[in-house]
Amino acid sequence: MRTIIEPFRIKSVETIRMTTREQRRELLTAAHYNLFGLQSKDVLIDLLTDSGTGAMSSEQWAAMMRGDESYAGSPSFARFTAAVQDLMPFEHIIPTHQGRAAEAILFSILGGAGRNIPNNTHFDTTRGNIESSGARAFDLVIEEGKDPASLHPFKGNMDLTRLEAFMVEHGDTVPCVMITLTNNAGGGQPVSLENIRAVALIARAHGKPFIIDGCRFAENAWFIKQREPGQGDRSIKDIVRDCFSCADGMTMSAKKDGFANIGGWLALNDGELAALARAKLIQTEGFPTYGGLAGRDLEAIAQGLVEIVDEDYLRYRIRTNEYIVERLDALGIPVVKPAGGHAVFIDARRWLSHIDPLQYPGQALACALYEVGGIRSCEIGTVMFGRQPDGSEVPAMMDLVRLAMPRRTYTQSHADYIVEVFEELVAQKDALRGYRISWEPKMMRHFSCHFEPLD
Ligand code: F0G
Repeated sequence: MRTIIEPFRIKSVETIRMTTREQRRELLTAAHYNLFGLQSKDVLIDLLTDSGTGAMSSEQWAAMMRGDESYAGSPSFARFTAAVQDLMPFEHIIPTHQGRAAEAILFSILGGAGRNIPNNTHFDTTRGNIESSGARAFDLVIEEGKDPASLHPFKGNMDLTRLEAFMVEHGDTVPCVMITLTNNAGGGQPVSLENIRAVALIARAHGKPFIIDGCRFAENAWFIKQREPGQGDRSIKDIVRDCFSCADGMTMSAKKDGFANIGGWLALNDGELAALARAKLIQTEGFPTYGGLAGRDLEAIAQGLVEIVDEDYLRYRIRTNEYIVERLDALGIPVVKPAGGHAVFIDARRWLSHIDPLQYPGQALACALYEVGGIRSCEIGTVMFGRQPDGSEVPAMMDLVRLAMPRRTYTQSHADYIVEVFEELVAQKDALRGYRISWEPKMMRHFSCHFEPLD
């Protein structure tokens, strides 16, 4: 069958408030053309992030009623731990309120001045936590992972030659080796099981712990099943267990492939490291049987982990992204190919080549998507990465716009609507103009800076 059907029925709905193009133009002006400044009620399709924004299942809501809010020894924690360990066989599971809290705890122990930490591509909070500890973060993704048009099946893979050279060069200053599944900052591209195993071997050979950022582990496993020779007949759960069996620990945002609105964890095999992490957890998040979470959140995650490895769900999830990428490609719009797991990325610099990178083609496209269709997306380019520590501004490596897909939230007709908005834009794109930044804060400017459209 060609039609992509959602493998669920809808039991509870949330009304989308319809707006006109004229209203959206005014709202955009009032928000200083920064989409983070919009109220969500003014957005028709919110693709700002896939994080924490998905719909929970009836089983998750039912499980939440069982949430036990005891300060210590909650049975919800036992169910949460069992669900995590069923997929990721680590010794110590330390709950946190979200992924970045797990990173902050990990790098309060492993980070520090003079340390160097490699990854395929560090997500911005991971990089932020490493750098604020005084350590340095390095991205060693394969070359194909930086080329939006390359059709390599595992564009999130680590460049093993560069990793080996990095380990030799930096020696004892490397406290751990990381890999991010899928490679969010590189377009949601997957990492092969073979590559994960090879990275683990290099880390082990140099006596360093191997830590996986597992945010989108189920999507990554689906790609392994589809694309990696010899993996097609295996269950997603088996593949997931294999991926994590070769690591010494993980950080996780349960707001992604935990199917939950909030939550995360840090997992470790090393008892001494785990003891240090728990001490920090008590200081910053909460007692080790709840982290920064309510018991009901732990229940939602435990049930979410059972549901996320369902193949019907993963097939539909990935297929929807592929469908949008195929349709945009057919319209001649440059998109990152192959489709990533959680998002569709548009190469705005190439599509709007009449706009200088320092006039933010990604921002111009993101604003146009909102004005024309009420779609909220996110610029991942010069606005986000252009400002340098010395105050200068340079074009980022790419100017992308990310359409991140919330889980189980929108339907196939929403996907068709997104494509239709792009069809509309094809005719208007040459008239789109760049922006200038009229005000920006000292750090992380993309969240709050003000823009003005250029004539
Ligand atoms: N690692 C990766 C790969 C992520 O994508 C994120 C969050 C985090 C860590 C941090 O997790 O949000 O729970 O603290 N990514 C979201 C996004 C925010 O929109 O891509 P968190």
